[in-house]
Amino acid sequence: MNGFDRLSGGMKQRLVIAALLAMQPDILVLDEPTSNLDPAGVRDVVELLGRLCAERPELTLILVEHRLDAVVPLVQRVLVLDSAGRLALDSSPGEAFSTHAEQLAALNVWLPSETYARLAASRGELAVWGAPRRQMSEAQVSSKPGGGGLSQPDAAPVLEFEHVSFSYRSGRPVLRDLSFAVHPGEVCAVVGANGCGKSTLAKLAVGLHGPDAGKVLFDGRPVAEIPARTVADRLGLVFQNPEHQFVTDCVLDEVRFNVQGSEEEVQSAARRVLDALRLEEFVDRNPFALSHGQKRRLSAATMLVSPKELLVLDEPTFGQDPSALEELLRMLNAAADQGTAVVVITHDMDLVWRRADTVYGMQEGRMLPGRKPTEFFADIEHLIHLGLEEPACVRYGVAGLERAGRSGK
Ligand SMILES: Nc1ncnc2c1ncn2[C@@H]1O[C@H](COP(=O)(O)OP(=O)(O)OP(=O)(O)O)[C@@H](O)[C@H]1O
Ligand SMILES: [Mg+2]
Repeated sequence: MNGFDRLSGGMKQRLVIAALLAMQPDILVLDEPTSNLDPAGVRDVVELLGRLCAERPELTLILVEHRLDAVVPLVQRVLVLDSAGRLALDSSPGEAFSTHAEQLAALNVWLPSETYARLAASRGELAVWGAPRRQMSEAQVSSKPGGGGLSQPDAAPVLEFEHVSFSYRSGRPVLRDLSFAVHPGEVCAVVGANGCGKSTLAKLAVGLHGPDAGKVLFDGRPVAEIPARTVADRLGLVFQNPEHQFVTDCVLDEVRFNVQGSEEEVQSAARRVLDALRLEEFVDRNPFALSHGQKRRLSAATMLVSPKELLVLDEPTFGQDPSALEELLRMLNAAADQGTAVVVITHDMDLVWRRADTVYGMQEGRMLPGRKPTEFFADIEHLIHLGLEEPACVRYGVAGLERAGRSGK
């Protein structure tokens, strides 16, 4: 399709959904239709599907989803598959998420945030900081786990954008006078509506495009002046679309390709990261023959296998089940602890809340000043203006979905 590659990740997803709906099918199967959409886009799609179901009662809608909050109100029936592909449950949503909630959590299946809140409360695990930010005291805010503020604000930045502007050959400006800096060990989140320029920023950060005006500096030097091999060793970008990254025809080779050392060192580093990200059984498989979520983990693995000074991850958590998300987070934390500067581009506000030290909102190519997550999410009007929303764990007062979700672990 002409121009398709010029759309942002979320715009492509919107286009595909629109094309499917225009065909007016009797059976509509949507496989994670909202994984790359901004929160406003998720609401639009859910509203549209709701209207469609009301207008066409004969329509059968099958939604395959990990993140359930928005879609649960649409569904009358919940089917759950276990890790072996067997049908583990077939029931109404009410029954699935009340009677069977613990059982589903134990199957490593996501539950609606409201269910996590209820499970956590029943275990006495609700933490004070989980209350809506507007009702939080400063003491409660500072007890939030994860990032609390700039990690090494005094150290020289690893990555600096100085008044950067950029447009693709054909069009209007995509990045406008954009400045920000990331320091060693800092995890910074970049958030904003579909098409605001996040993935473009990621590509400039690792030198795939050069700025039209301004500077992109890595370790004080323009990225463009750094030899390609050095860039590959010291900087890592996990693309929004994992397939853009694969260069070999075997999972193990894909990871080995990105690590240097003796044969033994390469092999053991590759095996370690593949084990950690639950890809060990696919080492001989073609990367393109993995599931969506496995491709995501493989593309992350290729960048996490060796230490980097800067890691840019574009939507690192889409399509992940609860334990895979935890493992990715653990590896990100480990990288940051070792001094890696991490930029996470994401529509997952819970991830931002849980881990970011600094949050940068983007709007139409402009970057807003960085804020701590507690400040960023306290400003509801600002959030709405950016097309974003509060993290579910804040809205429902859950102290970390992972604790509430994984019973007995
Ligand atoms: N290769 C390209 N050529 C021309 N325009 C492009 C190209 N890639 C992206 N754009 C345009 O640049 C703008 C920013 O796109 P970008 O992919 O950076 O957005 P994004 O913030 O990552 O969005 P999303 O949340 O949907 O992933 C969009 O208007 C998009 O259409
Ligand atoms: Mg993008």
